[in-house]
Amino acid sequence: MGVFETIGTDAHESVHFGEDTASGLKAIVAIHSTVLGPSLGGTRFYPYADEQAALVDVLRLSQAMTYKAAAAGLAQGGGKAVIIGDPTHLRSDDLFRAYGRFINGLAGRYITAEDVGTTVADMEIVASETSFVSGLPVTDGGSGDPSPATAMGVAASMRAVSSYLWGMDNLNGRKVAIKGVGKVGMELAGVLAAQGVELVVADVNSEATDAASTAFGAKVVSIEDIHTIECDFFSPCALGGDLNGATIPQMSCAAVVGSANNQLAAEGDANRLAERGILYAPDFVVNAGGIINIAAEADGYSIEKADRMVESIYDNLSKVLRTSDSLGVSTDDAAKHVAETRISEATKRGGQS
Ligand SMILES: NC(=O)c1ccc[n+]([C@@H]2O[C@H](COP(=O)([O-])OP(=O)(O)OC[C@H]3O[C@@H](n4cnc5c(N)ncnc54)[C@H](O)[C@@H]3O)[C@@H](O)[C@H]2O)c1
Repeated sequence: MGVFETIGTDAHESVHFGEDTASGLKAIVAIHSTVLGPSLGGTRFYPYADEQAALVDVLRLSQAMTYKAAAAGLAQGGGKAVIIGDPTHLRSDDLFRAYGRFINGLAGRYITAEDVGTTVADMEIVASETSFVSGLPVTDGGSGDPSPATAMGVAASMRAVSSYLWGMDNLNGRKVAIKGVGKVGMELAGVLAAQGVELVVADVNSEATDAASTAFGAKVVSIEDIHTIECDFFSPCALGGDLNGATIPQMSCAAVVGSANNQLAAEGDANRLAERGILYAPDFVVNAGGIINIAAEADGYSIEKADRMVESIYDNLSKVLRTSDSLGVSTDDAAKHVAETRISEATKRGGQS
């Protein structure tokens, strides 16, 4: 399929391709919307099967960022970047510097940050070439690694769902199955263990599951079985697409609340979950802690301020669940409705929130 055909009519404002042959950089930036403010989203560094797969991913991820910022009430738009290649072999200072120059050329319409495959240290190198980077270390005046804030937002979402389903926002005694104990999943495991939650975990990386088992007493199961565990919350914290035609019929949880982006493999999967009586907390509402943490950089960052802002995810998700009930639509459609309403109202006012 050709590039323009792939971009299609999903209303992305622009898509940019950057290459530096000396360092091996091949990157794509997709800017979905700048209506509410400059587009913001992390840089994913991943060994995509081919360039087409990378383009499809960055288009989907950037659109989700628009919804995420809008549903979180932020004055930011949606964008995302991917670097094509295996970060363990390809990463170098030269590559991140070349990437920084590419981002700088977009003149602030896209602000980058870390994501899967990139780190805060990588972003410090990017920052040597451009100021359009967020999530730099706290010592450099930035908001640091967004993962703890993202995990806090996931935990706040679980409390909101618990309040909605069971009339109590206390997680003590609940059982949570986490797929992917990386930066967010491991942090989440710690937050939940401290609240008296029983944990089951799975990861392709056995060092990560061993660490979760040792630190938090988590039971370890295979990645093939984690979604089938009978539990209160299934929490996808690895890559996208974990909620699909094969996994949904096998699931045995009350609700899905996780950090991974694009958890639904297809649009119909939200209804498929609802038909099974499983509450789906929309990923882009649940995992907004990272960008909220970055938004807390405005007028000076402090962890206390960021924590207060991240806690607003509890109210944002509660509103989405009420909207789903009142409109009689899936939770995913309700979250999109909340986000789209904000964007269309801003568009009528001529942009910006
Ligand atoms: N880091 C953030 O602040 C943030 C913010 C919003 C959304 N997210 C999303 O949350 C997810 C996790 O992010 P992260 O920063 O923790 O990434 P990460 O790379 O640190 O962790 C991902 C973990 O998933 C594991 N994994 C990969 N494939 C797997 C599979 N098939 N089965 C089981 N485990 C698998 C990896 O080994 C790793 O431990 C991603 O989808 C990311 O886009 C992260």
